[in-house]
Amino acid sequence: MMPTAKKKEISKPTISEPVKAPAKMTLVSGIQPTGKLTLGNYIGALRQFVKLQDELEDTELFIFIADLHAITTPQDKTELRKSIRNVAALYLACGLNPEKVNLFIQSEVLEHSVLGYIMESTAYVGEMERMTQYKDKKGKQTEGIRTSLLTYPALMAADILLYDANIVPIGDDQKQHLELTRNLAERFNNLYGETFVVPEGFFPKTGARIMSLSDPTKKMSKSDENPKSYINLLDDLGLIRNKIKSAVTDSDGAIKYEPKKKPGISNLLTIYSSLTEVPIKDIEDAYKDSNYQTFKAELAEIVVDAIRPIQQEYFKIINDTKLDDILTAGAERARFVAQRKMQKVYKRIGLGRIK
Ligand code: AMP
Ligand code: TRP
Repeated sequence: MMPTAKKKEISKPTISEPVKAPAKMTLVSGIQPTGKLTLGNYIGALRQFVKLQDELEDTELFIFIADLHAITTPQDKTELRKSIRNVAALYLACGLNPEKVNLFIQSEVLEHSVLGYIMESTAYVGEMERMTQYKDKKGKQTEGIRTSLLTYPALMAADILLYDANIVPIGDDQKQHLELTRNLAERFNNLYGETFVVPEGFFPKTGARIMSLSDPTKKMSKSDENPKSYINLLDDLGLIRNKIKSAVTDSDGAIKYEPKKKPGISNLLTIYSSLTEVPIKDIEDAYKDSNYQTFKAELAEIVVDAIRPIQQEYFKIINDTKLDDILTAGAERARFVAQRKMQKVYKRIGLGRIK
């Protein structure tokens, strides 16, 4: 559904008003600043954002660093701060254009937390307990499981609904959270009257789930204990080559896409196809008389060629105050839109006083 034209509910225009005509569509997405971003994040998320920024017309983009989500599990404060800046710089290094995207830090826009609480007051405990990511993460911890680990999908729903997002680009693992967001938006609308746009997920055709290089039946994850299982976008290029070359594959030697029977080589084919945009079928044909060693060596160069320019850009901006200016401007615009939405939400529920 398209967002309806907004009535002017705030009389004082701020510098956060977009200069252009209001966009018809809104895109929202975020990444948690936990650990270092991987090739999986790049293919499943960052690269998609850049493509969408260039392809979508008449769309306003809100992309943020989900630092509040990070504290659902314990974090070291120095590392967290570093990680937030690191992710912001990587977003830009991967090609996000601050002229086209509102890039900001979630915790700097307080409305996320307020609407998160309101979403907790819309969702049922049973729904939260059914989330597979919660069950997985809870299973890995023995004690001190934080309440926010359970309620996290309510905050994610708030992140999306605050901006009337139509399009939410995410990896496969976030499907269930998006489904919940849609249910919460509909429930809220039924309870209190039409307030939120019901968002749609946007999933990349190839690469929605890049698997671990050491155990290709598991997702490539930045929190994996084995650093050979993932490629960190800031890994040394030589190390990246080695990781690809030593990726676990089967012993039959045929370069064929069969995710069930041959998960290792299928994962490498997915990476190859995502980065080159060559269909998997064509890659299989090209390598039908080849072997794993040659294929891996060529893939290693493709991965290095994709990551090298990102690293160069990253080191240019990480210590530049321009990065702060971009994040400040992004937060200002996000705050403007979010505050306007919250006025409506308060009115619908009957919170506070009538203004
Ligand atoms: P996370 O690192 O879990 O905060 O994820 C940030 C974004 O990257 C989400 O949209 C994820 O779905 C996506 N993502 C994370 N890991 C992968 C992966 N291995 N393959 C594809 N997408 C991923
Ligand atoms: N939960 C997402 C993840 O772990 C990150 C995220 C938080 C997000 N809020 C969001 C993604 C809103 C899309 C939209 O990957």
